[in-house]
Amino acid sequence: MSSPSSGQSGPSSASALKKAFPHVDLDGHNLPPSPAPSSPNAGRRYALATELVYTEGSDQYNASSVPIYQTATFKQTSGSGGAEYDYTRSGNPTRTHLERHLAKIMSAQRALVVSSGMAALDVIMRLLRPGDEVVTGDDLYGGSNRLLTYLKTHGGIVVHHVDTTTPEKVQAVLNPKTAMVLLETPTNPLIKIVDIPKIAAFAHEANPNCLVTVDNTMMSPLLLNPLELGADIVYESGTKYLSGHHDLMAGVIAVNDPTLGERLYFPINASGCGLSPFDSWLLMRGVKTLKVRMDQQQANAQRIAEFLESHGFKVRYPGLRSHPQYELHHSMARGAGAVLSFETGDISLSERIVESAKLWAISVSFGCVNSLISMPCRMSHASIDAKTRKERAMPEDIIRLCVGIEDADDLIDDLRRALVQAGAVNVSLDGFQAVRPASD
Ligand SMILES: Cc1ncc(COP(=O)(O)O)c(C=O)c1O
Repeated sequence: MSSPSSGQSGPSSASALKKAFPHVDLDGHNLPPSPAPSSPNAGRRYALATELVYTEGSDQYNASSVPIYQTATFKQTSGSGGAEYDYTRSGNPTRTHLERHLAKIMSAQRALVVSSGMAALDVIMRLLRPGDEVVTGDDLYGGSNRLLTYLKTHGGIVVHHVDTTTPEKVQAVLNPKTAMVLLETPTNPLIKIVDIPKIAAFAHEANPNCLVTVDNTMMSPLLLNPLELGADIVYESGTKYLSGHHDLMAGVIAVNDPTLGERLYFPINASGCGLSPFDSWLLMRGVKTLKVRMDQQQANAQRIAEFLESHGFKVRYPGLRSHPQYELHHSMARGAGAVLSFETGDISLSERIVESAKLWAISVSFGCVNSLISMPCRMSHASIDAKTRKERAMPEDIIRLCVGIEDADDLIDDLRRALVQAGAVNVSLDGFQAVRPASD
């Protein structure tokens, strides 16, 4: 009998369908696996936009949204235990579902989710032993800098801060004791680009066991996959783009080596920093809209960067041709992201701009759907002392803009008004220009 939809059947209709749709896998034999519970990286993939939203679970009622297993313990069927889950510190189905989903999104064999981005770095740092050397950047996120300083003074770890934007400077300090190279690109707030493949090659040459670790928070897996560029470990603050709404704290670690995955799982289970079931559910929900959010945020950021540059401000954004490492950035990443910074040449002028903005909330962090404005040297990077900031050539007047999904014209109008109110621009009949143009 014919099927009601096709109105035909039999071998001739099958060959007609094949002829009409030569590239469509009509029988579905070659479809990529669903993110859960199948193994994460089986080679066959949908485009990332599809993978982000497509997820299946093994819920008994086929719930469309993964259930929140809000429980600390799981009853066992035998006196000797042995069930898949027993205690949420060690594992929880909501967390596992998220981890498998993220492993796919991050092109990894294994992902682990913890209570914050800093908890992720802390877990990674527990791979090190006293005497091990770490080579890292001189424009690191302030919190990462603080943790490394603590480990240096309390854990016997030797830390070298170098300008990671020049691979040869990294190479100069690499040696067989270098156990880890810790990179961030673009750096923040100076928006400097780091050549991951080149540095990874140098590091593995100096010590084949060296763990090249990349903080991918600024780019998110939508725009950059460090594991495909030679990194051994990638981590992100899930508080930012992955979740997107500044309503949770989370950290994600991803690796391809299963042994390394087990070594990273150990401190999570031992200390109990695994992400809670409710936050795992929230992060799972946030991840699904990563592409639409980032596309809009990035398009807005490009317009705002061009607006500021065209009025004479020194703007740091890898979407601008004037960025000195434009080519390098785009050789690794699929977009410029949505964080940019600009300078006014005067700290009090910068303060007035920040305080005059209305749509732009004065806030640390980034990756939220709302636009944020801040002075990193006063806020997110204040944990780096003034002397070190000076040594690292961090301009005290730098303003960071973390662009959200609002209407770009509204954001530009608000910024224009703040620039005028703060006295940062000279207004004439021909328009307006920065009081202290970048070329001065
Ligand atoms: C680049 C970067 N890495 C890591 C972190 C730490 O993440 P969390 O705040 O989730 O601990 C942050 C936080 O701002 C960050 O900006």
